[in-house]
Amino acid sequence: MSRKIFIFDTTLRDGEQSPGASLNSSEKLEIARQLKKLNVDIIEAGFPISSQEDFDSVSVIAREIKGPVVICALARAKDEDIARAAEALKYAEKPMIHTFIGTSNLQVFDVLKKTREQVLEMAVKAVKLAKSYTQEVEFSAMDASRTDLAYLCEIIQATITAGATVINIPDTAGYAIPGEFGSLINRLSLAVPELRQGTVRLSVHCHDDLGMATANSIEAIQVGASQIECAVNGMGERAGNAALEEVVMAIKTRGEYLDAYTDIKTQEIINTSRLISRLSGFLVPPNKSIVGVNAFSHSSGIHQDGVLKERSTFEIMLPQDVGLSESVFVLTSRSGRHALRHRLSELGYDIPDDKVNKVYETFMALADKKKQVYDEDLLAIIQNELPVAPQIYSLEYMQVIGGTEAPVAVVCLQKGKEAIREVACGNGPLDAVCKAIDKITGVKVDLASYSLNAVTKGKDAMAEAMVRITVKGDHSIAARGTSTDIVEASAKAYINAINKLLASRGPAIVE
Ligand code: KIV
Ligand code: ZN
Repeated sequence: MSRKIFIFDTTLRDGEQSPGASLNSSEKLEIARQLKKLNVDIIEAGFPISSQEDFDSVSVIAREIKGPVVICALARAKDEDIARAAEALKYAEKPMIHTFIGTSNLQVFDVLKKTREQVLEMAVKAVKLAKSYTQEVEFSAMDASRTDLAYLCEIIQATITAGATVINIPDTAGYAIPGEFGSLINRLSLAVPELRQGTVRLSVHCHDDLGMATANSIEAIQVGASQIECAVNGMGERAGNAALEEVVMAIKTRGEYLDAYTDIKTQEIINTSRLISRLSGFLVPPNKSIVGVNAFSHSSGIHQDGVLKERSTFEIMLPQDVGLSESVFVLTSRSGRHALRHRLSELGYDIPDDKVNKVYETFMALADKKKQVYDEDLLAIIQNELPVAPQIYSLEYMQVIGGTEAPVAVVCLQKGKEAIREVACGNGPLDAVCKAIDKITGVKVDLASYSLNAVTKGKDAMAEAMVRITVKGDHSIAARGTSTDIVEASAKAYINAINKLLASRGPAIVE
């Protein structure tokens, strides 16, 4: 039968220890509310003895966030730490004290300067004291992955006898390798009867110094662990903790293989990640698993085509399962017709078969100039390539010579199979272009208004020109044109307006 894996979130405690990340009480409360929505099993809200602000944060979270989620506070194996944690948790519906002490030789002899017996005594005393305040007590053997196995078993057994309900095995320095860590967890769960029988929960807490925090956590649950301590966006001391989103989605995606599940509402993952990133100022790298902006984006033409034909070719999770609305196809010069047509159809434009090649050609010309083609670019292309009015005239090419002397424009328009070329001078480049167009079309219009906007971002932005022309002072027609060149955008707008005019009035208006 599939086993439930408890998710212990330490974003507000270990996560908050990330260099540069610091959250105030009200921000922590907002995050705790979101963690409750995410449905984590335990929120480690802080380390009350470490500062008044941490104490206040734990207190307010304990008061405001009601069960079933457990609210936990950290305490060293010291009386004053435990009393302070208990005080902060006073109003919690489901409180838990998490007490810890270093157990590796480095921790016992070099840091604490104690004997193993003294450390064991301190751990037992701490658990007993914590138990006098809260029913749920977690004991962590800090640096467990570098601790002598026999001593680790001894201290675990002693703290269970003292009342610990959860035993946590931290890979504090992020030193363990998955097979090795799995073997440690397996041995512990076989050696300690309460862990083997599941009457005491076995938890792991992995750091990511070698990039193995998630792998180690997943390895551990396959050999007996039933709780993973983790932080959203992989926040935490140094390289961080196992990332909650990775652990949870690995269990969801490979649940059958792992024979395990969590109670996390995965659709809240993106909201949680973004909230925490915004409040902590801790940016999520674009290629971060699950929550990076590229995690559900496809850029290569082969991948885009594959996903459109059968999503599971290159997508092992549904974007909707983490709270995104859709996968994103990044349109670049590597994108194919299939992806372009798909995106245009999402934008509401179904391109007829006979127009696809032309639209694709324009798209590729733009994609060669720009790294990424945005929706606004596509809309601009569509306005040009699928004009509302029939294209009686279309721009073949143009050349403008500007400067302080009268600018000169050479314009060539296509009309049916015929290419017509004219030259004109004007007061400015646009005036010269319009005059050349007037000569070609023979239509006499006035330019009543003209405006220019950048519709996309960057130096290579698409410009959009809007023109309004009038004929003999009464009939007025507006049209738009786009290009990365502002004079060309203006010329296209002017030609589109004339096309509209000709379509509405017929050739009779030609003088
Ligand atoms: O990494 C660690 O060992 C810890 C303990 C306090 C559990 O954060
Ligand atoms: Zn830690």
